[in-house]
Formats: sequence, C-alpha cells, structure tokens
Amino acid sequence: MIEERMKLVAKRLDVVEPSPTLAITAKANQLKANGIDVVGFGAGEPDFDTPEHIKEAAKKAIDAGKTKYTPVSGTVSLRDAIIHKLQRDNGLKYERNQIIVGTGGKQVLYNFFMAVLNPGDEVIIPAPYWVSYADIVRLAEGIPVIVPTDISSGFKINAEQLSKHITNKTKVFIFNSPSNPTGSAYTRKEVESLVSVLEPKDIIVLSDDIYEKIIYDGLEFVNPAMISTKMKEKTFVVNGVSKAYSMTGWRIGYGAGNAEIVKNMDTMQGQSTSNASSIAQAAAEAALLGDQSPVETMRQAFDVRRKLIVGLLNQIPGIDCRMPEGAFYAFPYLTQVFSLSAFQKLKQSKGESSNSKLFCEILLDQYQVAAVPGSAFGDDQAIRLSYALGEKDIEKGIERIKKMVLDLQ
Ligand SMILES: Cc1ncc(COP(=O)(O)O)c(C=O)c1O
Repeated sequence: MIEERMKLVAKRLDVVEPSPTLAITAKANQLKANGIDVVGFGAGEPDFDTPEHIKEAAKKAIDAGKTKYTPVSGTVSLRDAIIHKLQRDNGLKYERNQIIVGTGGKQVLYNFFMAVLNPGDEVIIPAPYWVSYADIVRLAEGIPVIVPTDISSGFKINAEQLSKHITNKTKVFIFNSPSNPTGSAYTRKEVESLVSVLEPKDIIVLSDDIYEKIIYDGLEFVNPAMISTKMKEKTFVVNGVSKAYSMTGWRIGYGAGNAEIVKNMDTMQGQSTSNASSIAQAAAEAALLGDQSPVETMRQAFDVRRKLIVGLLNQIPGIDCRMPEGAFYAFPYLTQVFSLSAFQKLKQSKGESSNSKLFCEILLDQYQVAAVPGSAFGDDQAIRLSYALGEKDIEKGIERIKKMVLDLQ
C-alpha cells in the first residue's frame, strides 16, 4: 500500500522543502487556536489592515463587474500604474510589453526562473537568503550557488566575493535589498561596486525589491537597474504590493524587464494560473496610484518596533543583534547561547544537528514564542524574528526569549 502511494510522488519534489516559515506560523496558529498565548515572531507579513481607499477600490471593481478574465500579464490599467510607479519611485522607464503581473511576487519569481533557466544553469544567491529562492531555482533545474555572508559584513556581499563565484555557467545573480531575513540594505556605493563586476558579464540580475518601501534612517533605496542604462537592460525587477501596502492576502506581484523574458513568463503563466485576480488587480492599481501616506505611517511604526526589539535583544547575555536598515525582521546571532553546555547537552540528547532549529523548537514548545530558525535561511547561528506585531507583544516575547536563555546559563 505504502509502495503504491510512493509512486504518486513526482521526482521533482525531491529537491524542494515545504516553506519552514509557513510551517512555523501554522504550528503557532494551531497553539493559539487551542487557547495558548503564543507570541508570534514567525510570520513574514505586516500586521496592519489594508488601507481603506484600497479596499474601496476592490469593492467598486466588484460592483462595476470587473469580475472576468483579464489579459494573462495583467490589466492594461494596472500595467500602466506599474510603469508609472517605476518611473516615479525608481526613475526607470518601461513599455507595457516589459511588465507582467502575477499572483504575488512569489509567482513572478517562480515564472521568471522557469522561463530563463536551463538544466545546470547556476544562480548566485547571497546567504542568508529568503527561503524560496533556492527551492524555486532547483525546481527550475538550476543550481543555487550560495555565497555566505555573516554579521561581520552586515550580511552583505562585496564585489570580490561576487566575482569569485561567477563561472561560465552563471545565468542569474539574485539581489535582495532590503533583505529577508537580515533586514540589511545596500547603499548606492555598495550597489555600484557589485555593478562594476556585473556590467561586463552576460548575467541577468534578479532584483527582488519587495521591501523597497520599508527602509530606515533616510537610506536611499537603490537597485542595480537604477545604476546605469546597461544595467537596467540586464536587470529583471520583481516587486509587489504585499509588504508596502499590507496586502499579503490579495496576492499581487509584478515583474519588469526584458520583453522576451516577459513574453515567456506570460506563456508559463498562461498555462498555469492565467491572470491574477481581477479584483485584486483593481486594488493594486489604487495602491500604486493613490495616497501613499499609509505606507509612511506603517514604515514609521515598524521603525519604532525595530529600535525596541533590537535594543531588548542586545540586553540578553549571549545575543548579538545588528540594527537592520530595512524590512521588518531582526536576525540576532545566538552563537554564544548555542555554545552553552546545557544547550549542547540538549542537542545531543535530542539528536538534533541544527542549533537554530532546536532553539526555535524549545522556544515554541516551552516558552510559547514562534521564531524561524536561521538554518532555513542558510545561517544556523541566528534566528529570525519578524517585528510585525505590537510593542507590548514584542516586549512580552523578548522577555520569554530572555528567560529561555537565562534558564540555559
Ligand atoms: C524576499 C521576498 N521576496 C518575495 C516575497 C513574495 O511576496 P508575495 O508573494 O507576497 O508578493 C517575499 C515574501 O515573504 C519575500 O520575503
């Protein structure tokens, strides 16, 4: 019977893992549903409601009968709104045939890699990286080439590291600033330095700009396409409304770049999901063209929480947390905590090889705090805490983490 069932599993699934972020969030939600007071630092989504004028636009779209199929790549009016946004915010000019709308940035990324990679093509991914990059690349039969960074370099790669990992099989370099999970953002100078390596090469840059609007201390958002006309031609930009407008459930993301790539992505999407929801597209249009002040209000709230959580984390003995420049994640290093003999003994007795996984398991089961192990992002020395929750909850959650660390001393 079991053998029969095994035949139902396609070989291609051997290379992918279920998303650990979604798994932890699901477990924490289950505990909450059972009446347990869990503090959730796991989820990768803003906790704010979608701004009112965006919701209104969706209601109007329903009443106006915008409930039919749209072009696969998105309505003309949404694509024009995206063109307007890219010009207004990034100084980048695109034509309609260079824009594609998908069901979230995730689908756009998936279709991009399915459309450009051939088996064996290498994709350079700086670590720590967003969980889905490596899995999507593997599903598209590419080879993820991971470039490790750590807290000492602010979790950023430099030109030398980048050029060392380029081979004649390198097809794509993934650039994600501000980053999930570290919150690190590259300065213009740092982007220029990476561009000096990339510009002469035949490599496509996939710039994942999803956290563009959540950036602090007046730092300018810069992606490689913004550096030069030549780089704009080599760069494929992915962005969306999920994080900036608190619209994760609406599922609208978009891509901008080479028209040939967009055409092939359209073909991929046309044979899988077709267009993203017509109603959500109308809402995304209102988000991109309407009042931008809610974005700033949310950004300021995140900034207060960022300073609070990083300050509290650094007061815990053995924890080292860098102040992130963007996004809504803290990525504290727990190297010293993991080396405590009580923790190492637990590790042996449980037969667990990953420090961060074991820490997060105990944290959730015994201290009712959900966090994502750094190992899921390619760095086992850290855990990821999303600070998309109220200040009182942040204080409560960090107090519990402190208790766990002190119990281990
Ligand atoms: C780095 C990064 N890119 C892309 C996405 C995709 O977001 P969505 O599919 O909601 O647009 C996420 C979501 O967590 C992310 O963290």
